[in-house]
Amino acid sequence: MDNFTFYSPTYFVFGKGTENEAGHYVKRFGGTRVLLHYGGGSVIRSGLLDRVKASLEKEGLFWAELGGVQPNPRSGLVYKGIELCRKENIDFILAVGGGSTIDSSKAISIGTPYQGDFWDFYAGKAEAKTSLPVASVLTIAAAGSEGSDGSVITQENGMYKRGYGSELIRPVFAIMNPELTMTLPPYQTASGCTDIMAHVFERYFTNTRNVEITDRLCEGILKTIIKELPKVLENPNDYEARANIMWAGTLAHNDVCGVGREQDWASHNLEHELSALYDCAHGAGLAVMFPAWMTYVMRHDVNRFAQFAVRVWGCEMNFENPEETAKEGIARTRAFFHSIGMPTSFAELGAKEEDIPKLLETLQIEGRTEGFFMKLGPKECEAIYHLACRE
Ligand code: NZQ
Ligand code: ZN
Repeated sequence: MDNFTFYSPTYFVFGKGTENEAGHYVKRFGGTRVLLHYGGGSVIRSGLLDRVKASLEKEGLFWAELGGVQPNPRSGLVYKGIELCRKENIDFILAVGGGSTIDSSKAISIGTPYQGDFWDFYAGKAEAKTSLPVASVLTIAAAGSEGSDGSVITQENGMYKRGYGSELIRPVFAIMNPELTMTLPPYQTASGCTDIMAHVFERYFTNTRNVEITDRLCEGILKTIIKELPKVLENPNDYEARANIMWAGTLAHNDVCGVGREQDWASHNLEHELSALYDCAHGAGLAVMFPAWMTYVMRHDVNRFAQFAVRVWGCEMNFENPEETAKEGIARTRAFFHSIGMPTSFAELGAKEEDIPKLLETLQIEGRTEGFFMKLGPKECEAIYHLACRE
């Protein structure tokens, strides 16, 4: 196991009715003038936004609001948010929604006190020195942004996605009521769960040895999703299954299962170019990219893939030919994604093979590599995109 530090100070408030305590927690974490940030309208239709406003009112808090965050959140709305925060002297940002809304809030939180262009952070030109506190009322189990130090924004000028990570943007609290996820369409539920599994894969496939504890945590999260997601697709109001999935989503990405080990992240970066170009759901893009990546890199460590097949999917170990077991694990992963309604090829996602040069261009892969499990240069990334067309 590698040396590590772990500090993940989000305060989680989990369970039924907890959104009514939003105002209480904003106050407790020092907010007085709040930006309420939300997406395309699901929180209005469900009545959630009104409940959150009532709880702010109860605590005598001022708020301004900015809706309209699109999935794969755009730079344009971030600029609007920054302007609004400055104008209204906002000191706290409350995201009511999913990963896109939380990520947009995070960008606004570091952009508001910064003199330059907030994109400097995402372009790798500057490090954030200060931020407004961010918190969330989560409505979808997926990105894990409610407990993570990351944020991913789509630059509208060129339509490419970039991430930024800093302790300054880890949410100070997250309100997580599994009931709020019951209004999700099945496709979004499945896409969210695919993202959760992908966050585990990025950590599980590692070159670091003797990481049994985090291996087992990873496997536990994967097995939980594999067991609970079909229940929710069958009965969207299954509270217990929704609750297990929601907490799995946080644990998959607040790094509790990623510490002390080298992580990969090539598949995520390859996918980000897909969701930027085609505006597909991030999880759906991952369902396409991960089986292709797994197929490409499997021979780098057959035993790890065989372990995955045996422990996660219950495959029988073929001691004569471990590669067969490894392949079976990948096939089971792809079959699972299909069974939950996810695409597993470019065509099913609506992506085009002839766009691969464009994807490689926005990935800006020339002269560098992606991933750590196996370092992937331009040729390898291209080959994986092509594999994703065929599977
Ligand atoms: O916009 P509204 O109307 O709210 O609808 C949303 C949106 O259309 C809808 N939705 C959310 N909760 C709902 C609901 N509809 C009905 N009932 C509810 N309770 O679902 C759609 C997707 O929402 P979004 O916020 O985009 O989902 P998700 O949480 O999957 O976020 C995806 C974004 O997170 C980024 C992705 O790249 C993508 O841009 N990621 C962020 C990470 C991070 N910050 O740590 C890590 C991830 O790997 C990921 O890259
Ligand atoms: Zn993800």
